[in-house]
Formats: sequence, structure tokens, C-alpha cells
Amino acid sequence: MRKGKVDALLGIVFGDEGKGKIVDVFTPEYDIVARFAGGPNAGHTIMFEGKKFVLRSIPSGIFDEGKLNIIGNGCVIAPDLFMQEAKELEEAGYDLRSRLHISKRAHLILPTHRVLDRAYEAAKGKNKVGTTGKGIGPTYSEKASRTGLRVGDILENFEEKYEALKARHERTLRDLNFSDYDITEEERLWMQGIDYMRQFSLTDTEIELGKALKEGKSVLAEGAQGTMLDIDHGTYPYVSSSNTVSGGVCTGLGVAPNAIGDVFGIFKAYSTRVGSGPFPVELLDETGDRIRQIGHEYGAVTGRNRRCGWLDLVALRYAIMINGVTQLIMMKSDVLDSFAEIKVCTKYTKNGASTEEMPYDTDGWQAVYETLPGWQTDLTKMTNEKQFPQELKDYIAYIERATETPITIISVGPDRAQTIVR
Ligand code: IMP
Repeated sequence: MRKGKVDALLGIVFGDEGKGKIVDVFTPEYDIVARFAGGPNAGHTIMFEGKKFVLRSIPSGIFDEGKLNIIGNGCVIAPDLFMQEAKELEEAGYDLRSRLHISKRAHLILPTHRVLDRAYEAAKGKNKVGTTGKGIGPTYSEKASRTGLRVGDILENFEEKYEALKARHERTLRDLNFSDYDITEEERLWMQGIDYMRQFSLTDTEIELGKALKEGKSVLAEGAQGTMLDIDHGTYPYVSSSNTVSGGVCTGLGVAPNAIGDVFGIFKAYSTRVGSGPFPVELLDETGDRIRQIGHEYGAVTGRNRRCGWLDLVALRYAIMINGVTQLIMMKSDVLDSFAEIKVCTKYTKNGASTEEMPYDTDGWQAVYETLPGWQTDLTKMTNEKQFPQELKDYIAYIERATETPITIISVGPDRAQTIVR
């Protein structure tokens, strides 16, 4: 943490790396925690004072008194889901209104954006993206088309603007022959959510951040999803619709590139992916099932089974380059405790060709592995890296060599205490 800088904490593979836990470990150090991209497609599971919370839009610094949390301009926000999430926190005793500011430039997810999300997916037939159904794609498309509604819009003549946009969406849905929806109840809650949001500080968060940085405050930019789901650098078109990479911190918060300090890249000791799309390391066998079971790899937002596989160094190296990762954080190492052998994908192969670099079209490539001995030791009680079995030390050293990046934190269990800082 450096004063007057923005550190980024990013999932650097397909999301679900366990950012929630690490943000929780990191937040006490920072003055401000800010979300810069994505919306309720994210689900950051956090244990706080023995209670489990799944944060979707609200930054993870919300539990600490005296900390400012920002939902930045790069985010999209669904007022009904925001209200649900915020009320749960308020009922648990957290004073949100003094701790949370929302950018007036963030875009609103309308109920009809969620219907459009379903309609576009249905129209794709077997090439579905497998979205979370939260209206993310249609809302970001609308932003790019310059027809979207922003949080600041709710402060003046909102109903008129809302009705006009909704009518346009309904026309599109008619053109798509998609009539299987009824948003009456959803819309009622959504409008309640709009009223509820009006009670919050809706501000020019980029100006606030600019001033805070000048005063020497420290900022943690909390990523959502992962690099391989980035709209530009992920496995397009099987991606989300925002820039999830460190560049997205600048655009999604309105901070300059020279304000970025450390970039922490979070990955799991193995790989997972939710939704469709290329995944060369996917294990469709017992080993994959075993990783899923031990790692509880089921989606926090959708409950779907996560696809599981071994660590992918091709993806990891690419993500480190794109994000400028300065430190790596390896999560869920304990999930591999019982494996006699651990594999690592070092390159991809297709039709006799092979590559160690992320190909433009990741479809159809197969993983080539190197096999390392497993540690077959319970890591969950370890508190110091000196206690690590040699095989784990070798695994860590192998990844550090292959990525030319230090692994500075190793997580050996879900609890905050099971976090080993080197
Ligand atoms: P969308 O963001 O709902 O449009 O979904 C696009 C793709 O990103 C789908 O494959 C989703 O499963 C995936 N996705 C979106 N958000 C997350 C996340 O927070 N974790 C993991 N995968 C996600």
C-alpha cells in the first residue's frame, strides 16, 4: 500500500479466484475501496464477524467504519438488487449511507435489460455465452450506443426517460419474437430501488478520488470477474462486457495510469470457469469432479457447477502481462492437498501446432501438461511458509519461474487466518 496510489486487486483468470477473502484481508490498510467494473454478475463471498455475506455491487470495504467505498463510473448497477444487498447489510448493523458513494456516471440495469439478456442468449442457440442473466451485456451495449440511463439520471425527470427506454427495449423484444416475460413485480421492486438509491450519496466519484489521491489517501480498486472474461482480452465472445483488467481501473474510476501502484493478481492453484467458452485445461473426468467437490466450485451468483481443471500457465502469463501484475496471490492451495500428482499446463496444441502464448482464437486448443509431485499434506493448519512441504515449495517456485512474478500470499483455507504472507 502506498499513499496517494491506487492498488488493484484483480482476478486474473476466469473470476471466482476468491477475491472476497483477500479484499477482506487487505481493506484495513486502505482509506478507500472502489469497484471499477461489472455489476451484480459478481458475487464476492465474505465472512464478517462470523456471518456470511455475498457482495454483488457493493465494495468489500463496507464493513469497516471510517472507510469510503465507491461504486465507480465503470460499473453497472441494478437498483432492485442493490437495494436487496444494501438492506441486508443495513439490517446487520452496517451504516452504509455514510460509507458508500455511487458514481452518477455508472449505468443503470433496467428490468428490460435482463429480459434482453435472456432473449439474446435464446437467439444464440447452441452458441450461448452462458451469462449470469443479470442484464450486463445489454446494459454495456446501451452505454456504448450512447442510449443508456445513468445513475445521475434518477435525479431529474427520471420516469419519462425510463419509459422511453423501456418502450425501445420492448420494440426490440418484439422484433426478436421474445414474449416470454412479465416484469410487473420486478419493475415495482426496481422503482422502489430507485427511490432507495436516491437516499445515497450519488456523486462525481472521479473528482472525489482525484482529491483523495492528492491528499495522499490510499485506494484499493477491487476487481470483478477475471482477465479471461475481459471484453477485449478474454476468450471473446465468451466473455463479460466490461474491461476487467488493470486498464479498466483507469477508465472505470477516472484515475490516471500514473496513479496505479501495485497490481495484485489473484489465481487459484488450479483453474475454474463458469459459463460456456474455450477452456483447454478442462477436466471432464473424475479428477475434475474431485476438484469441484473439494473446492466447492459452484457459482456464488447462479449456483451453476464450475468447470474445473489444472493450472493454466499460458493464461496466467498472458494475464500477468496485460495487467502488469507486480505480485501474485495463490488461492485455495489446500484443495490440492490430497492429490498424488499435480499437473500444470505449459502450452496449447492444435493440429500439430503448439503455442505458449495466448492464441487469438482459444477454441479447439488442447492443453499440454507437465506433471509435478503432489504434497499430500494437510495445509489448512499451517501458519508459516516454513511449515510448507517441499513439494508445495517446489510448486510455488515453479510457477514463479514460469511467470517471472513473485507469489507473495498463499491461501490455505477459507478463513482469514489461513492466509500466509511471505
Ligand atoms: P455476464 O457477465 O453475465 O454477461 O456473463 C458473461 C460470462 O462471464 C459468463 O460466462 C459468466 O458465467 C461469466 N461471469 C460473469 N461474472 C462472473 C463472475 O463474477 N465470476 C465468474 N464468471 C463470471
